[in-house]
Amino acid sequence: MIYLPLVAVALLPFTLAAPQPDAGVIHVPIVRRSRINRVANLPKAVEALRTKYGYHPTNAPYSKRANTATIAITDEENDSSYSGIVSIGTPPQDFNLILDTGSSDLWVATSSCTSCASTEFIASKSSSYQSSGASLEITYGSGSVKGTTSQDTVSFGGFTITQQELLAVSSLTSGLLDSVLSGIMGLGFNTISALNATPFWQALYNANQLSQPLFSFYLERYIDQAIMDNAPGGTLTLGGTNSSLYQGSIEYLSLAGSPSYWLLNVNSLSVQGHTVSVGSSSLAAIDTGTTLIAAPSTVAADVWAQVPGSVALTGEYEGLYAFPCTTDVTVTISFGGSAWAINSADMNLGSVPSSISGTSSELCAGGIFDIGNSVGSGSGVPTWIVGDTFLKNVYSVFRANPAAVGFAELASGVSTSTGTSTSNPAKVSTTATPTSSSGNPLLGTASTNTNIAVSLTLLASVAACFTLLF
Ligand SMILES: *[C@@H]1O[C@H](CO)[C@@H](O)[C@H](O)[C@H]1NC(C)=O
Ligand SMILES: *[C@@H]1O[C@H](CO)[C@@H](O)[C@H](O)[C@H]1NC(C)=O
Repeated sequence: MIYLPLVAVALLPFTLAAPQPDAGVIHVPIVRRSRINRVANLPKAVEALRTKYGYHPTNAPYSKRANTATIAITDEENDSSYSGIVSIGTPPQDFNLILDTGSSDLWVATSSCTSCASTEFIASKSSSYQSSGASLEITYGSGSVKGTTSQDTVSFGGFTITQQELLAVSSLTSGLLDSVLSGIMGLGFNTISALNATPFWQALYNANQLSQPLFSFYLERYIDQAIMDNAPGGTLTLGGTNSSLYQGSIEYLSLAGSPSYWLLNVNSLSVQGHTVSVGSSSLAAIDTGTTLIAAPSTVAADVWAQVPGSVALTGEYEGLYAFPCTTDVTVTISFGGSAWAINSADMNLGSVPSSISGTSSELCAGGIFDIGNSVGSGSGVPTWIVGDTFLKNVYSVFRANPAAVGFAELASGVSTSTGTSTSNPAKVSTTATPTSSSGNPLLGTASTNTNIAVSLTLLASVAACFTLLF
């Protein structure tokens, strides 16, 4: 979801942090004292050096404000995206933003954007809003957003960062977001921020406001259920994990490469019980902001070759595969540890009109697609994007230090939704029921299948966005 080159910035990842505790108060003791005093002063000296050189402070003294927040997530349109309520400005204005570990910028549609979202930020009503005056365009695959680089107070889950950098969006291409959504909260690392800013979560981490240097997702599944378009969609725990949402231990896998996206290597894959080669370059972005799983062309072809009767779709659906709807597609994926099973419901995106599949037998679109061959050269560039199709099946933990992604088995009883459309705990402002197909450039005038329509919006954006890396 970004277009910056992935540069290695291993040495100074956190220097841009806004609230650096004790920054500027660097007292390295140089006066000789007694041995005892010298030892007593060592922790302070070490911390001062860390601060001076931009390393993250590790000591306890700053942790007094450390906290953990439990944030309700909304499931948008049958698991197409997951969002949370973010407050911006003084007094706070509330927005429903996509929670996206696959990008690192915060943007919100503003009132100067004509019908961009049903809820838009009114900058003139925020006393803490500051505009830099500089305009910036962030390009996503299926479109782009344009706006003014700005700062304002941002609150999320009870945490607050003043002067958080964000893009106040004044135009966006149609179909980019569903209208109940007002923007994106990027949860990747600062190194891939188009705004060149420290993301909200990372600013909290740098300021030692998080009890633990991580955040955790439980994403609910509604894909097979007739419910409303916005549903309770799980829980984001900022600064901790919630042991009632998973069982067993969390298996942490060190990030592959320096922090940019949350990158892991795909280690093994099985489909219908058969092992599928993952190839030699299998770097994967673990991305809550992507609906499906994008794989390299040869892998995607091998995946669907294991499912009898499957076909590669063409035209505007190129990259997607479809398979006989009566087949349960069973996939497991491993990133070097456990092999995690994907529920077959997540692999089935709904039936494909015969005008698209080119056959009269009923085919359904599959949850793993071919991202294309142009992706994948260059080090640090992911060749896979592992989105919610997988992440719904595990409890996932995004840990900054030591940098890792962890997965655990979901607690029994939370692996699927109840399917009851109770009122949303996240108090989403739904002024209108979204019509997902309107304005979607990929769909033409009519589609008989909204599931595919919604998913395509996001997968296409991802596919195109990754080609922009070159
Ligand atoms: C979600 O799924 C339900 C049941 O399959 C369907 O009726 C509804 O139209 C879907 N909504 C969207 C936005 O795809
Ligand atoms: C953990 O999750 C459970 C189930 O959703 C919830 O009831 C509980 O409040 C959460 N715990 C914390 C500390 O937030």
